[in-house]
Amino acid sequence: MRRAKISIIGGGNVGASCALWAAEKELGDIVVLDIPKAEDLVKGKMLDLAQCGPVELFDANIIGTADYADTAGSDVVIVTAGIPRKPGMSRDDLIATNVKIVKSVAEQVASHSPDAVMIIVSNPLDAMVFTAWRASGFPTNRIVGQAGCLDVARFKTFIAMETGFSVEDINALLLGGHGDTMVPLARYTNISGVPISKFISDDRMNEIIERTKKGGGEIVKLMGTSAYYAPASGSVSMAEAIIKDKKRILPCAAYCDGEYGINGYFVGVPAVLGSGGVEQIIEVDLNDDEKSLMDNSVEAVKELVEIVKQTFPELAEAAV
Ligand code: NAI
Ligand code: 2OP
Repeated sequence: MRRAKISIIGGGNVGASCALWAAEKELGDIVVLDIPKAEDLVKGKMLDLAQCGPVELFDANIIGTADYADTAGSDVVIVTAGIPRKPGMSRDDLIATNVKIVKSVAEQVASHSPDAVMIIVSNPLDAMVFTAWRASGFPTNRIVGQAGCLDVARFKTFIAMETGFSVEDINALLLGGHGDTMVPLARYTNISGVPISKFISDDRMNEIIERTKKGGGEIVKLMGTSAYYAPASGSVSMAEAIIKDKKRILPCAAYCDGEYGINGYFVGVPAVLGSGGVEQIIEVDLNDDEKSLMDNSVEAVKELVEIVKQTFPELAEAAV
């Protein structure tokens, strides 16, 4: 049987961690591409990772490269290229630099792996998914952004810390953009089916929701750069669902064509991921308060996309 091929563009903190999770899960062969200046570094990192195989018992060809030819024919491409946040910066401060990078990366991916599903991770996420879509000309089901898997994992982690129960039994739903307007939904959160209100008071839940929304900033403040283990874990869970055609329902930045009243934007929603990429979007009922929070988050996404369109008019129109 042919092994799946996963390419990761950008071999920095998130990209290298994606390679590590993908190897550990034995998802397939792995190519990590970085810029020519970082070629030796990424080659060295991937040689190092390949040498974990005999210990961790995974079989995979793992290489670092600066040549897109090595990525050709990938099934899934995870895009982590770009600059991360430094303390005091918001995700949105990265936009000018990262649009240029993600645009050129998406064009290369489209040319070398025209049938791939592209998972975008670079920030500001909601604007970068739009950029990659427009630059690649890919159909909307084969472009998806990673944000919700990370954000909901943070939410679940804080709930586990609060209650002492296993993370395995915590179910939660989180919608919206990958910014401080994201919408963790307490009403759709439970522990093994028992509503979360049984375990956590409303006031305390609101504090946990606020911590979740600012979860990325909390780590930037501590580390001086942004998180990478959990972002990579979230990204690889999406890649795994696609490669194994698992039909998982994961919160992803997916293209909405009327769902949740959103037209023509990639926004965080529960999406079914399988071999076709985003195969379906699941809509849930929102009450007035939840809808207003979602609308506010969608507005933030639209503002970011507007900046991309105004700064890079060539992205205002579809590539094909
Ligand atoms: P990093 O600085 O450690 O790595 C970025 C890598 O991209 C570097 O190795 C750099 O050489 C490479 N790169 C730059 N331009 C490139 C190009 N044109 N082609 C190929 N590679 C290129 O940064 P880190 O921490 O890995 O973060 C990467 C991106 O992911 C940032 O934009 C960050 O904000 C974002 N991020 C997104 C998250 C999410 O949940 N969506 C979570 C964490 C980070
Ligand atoms: C995070 O949420 C910076 O987007 C990155 O950690």
